[in-house]
Amino acid sequence: MGTAYFCTFAHFLDCITMNILDSIDRNKLPKHIAIIMDGNGRWAKERGQDRVYGHYEGVVSVREIVNTCGELGIGYLTLYAFSTENWNRPKQEVDALMELLVNTIRREVDELKKNNVRLHIIGDFESLPEICQKELNEAKEITASNTGLNLILALSYSSRKELVDAAKKIAEKVATGLLKPEDINNEVFQEHLYTANYPDPELMIRTSGESRISNYLLYQIAYAELYFTPVHWPDFRKQNLYEALLNYQQRERRFGKTSEQIQTTTPEHV
Ligand code: FPP
Repeated sequence: MGTAYFCTFAHFLDCITMNILDSIDRNKLPKHIAIIMDGNGRWAKERGQDRVYGHYEGVVSVREIVNTCGELGIGYLTLYAFSTENWNRPKQEVDALMELLVNTIRREVDELKKNNVRLHIIGDFESLPEICQKELNEAKEITASNTGLNLILALSYSSRKELVDAAKKIAEKVATGLLKPEDINNEVFQEHLYTANYPDPELMIRTSGESRISNYLLYQIAYAELYFTPVHWPDFRKQNLYEALLNYQQRERRFGKTSEQIQTTTPEHV
């Protein structure tokens, strides 16, 4: 009886997921999704557990969202896994997060390889513990020839630092005569960001009910659609991503133009 109920309920959930998936227009998916994975700590506290337990469960969501993006043919997924500000958390939590990162990469690298996912890292790589750097470098190498989803982990990342770094690199080129000030434009600036090789995100998701950007991809999200959900990251699964995509597809992306212009011309950024 219990099993029969479970099967029926599982089937019911599958049907809902399939229904939403059917409503998603595969030709209008964002090429790049950026996510602020927030709420791990609160999720754990609500269950009377230590915050770190929320990060462990957050990895399950990471796996599911990476797989789902791969299945949908999304080109780029950037996950905010650790900000420069996160170094200020209690040492025990920082250590646990670094250990979790190493163990997760070690455990998942074969799966990433098999699923044609290529790993990239943005942020202050050198500030990560050596063991993290080593594991990440190996995983980057192992997945370097993959041609499916580009999974970009933002680690020890600060958007303001990225912008300042870009300004410094450009200033050095101007000082040495490699670049003229009048040649600096959006394209040149973009080429000096950590994300130089990736398109801008069209959809930015933040979980856990906070409505802020927290020093994440400030330049790159100029025209991204922002999607805030109250769901904590460890509960954010396939179904929630489908909902975000459906919501994204229902928006009119005008890029400063009028609604009438958008409806009568072929949109540049579909
Ligand atoms: C924010 O929740 C989450 C983080 C700072 C860490 C995110 C890390 C993971 C999901 C696991 C490791 C990731 C990979 C890619 C292996 P919070 O702790 O700020 O939650 P709170 O706002 O409820 O306190």
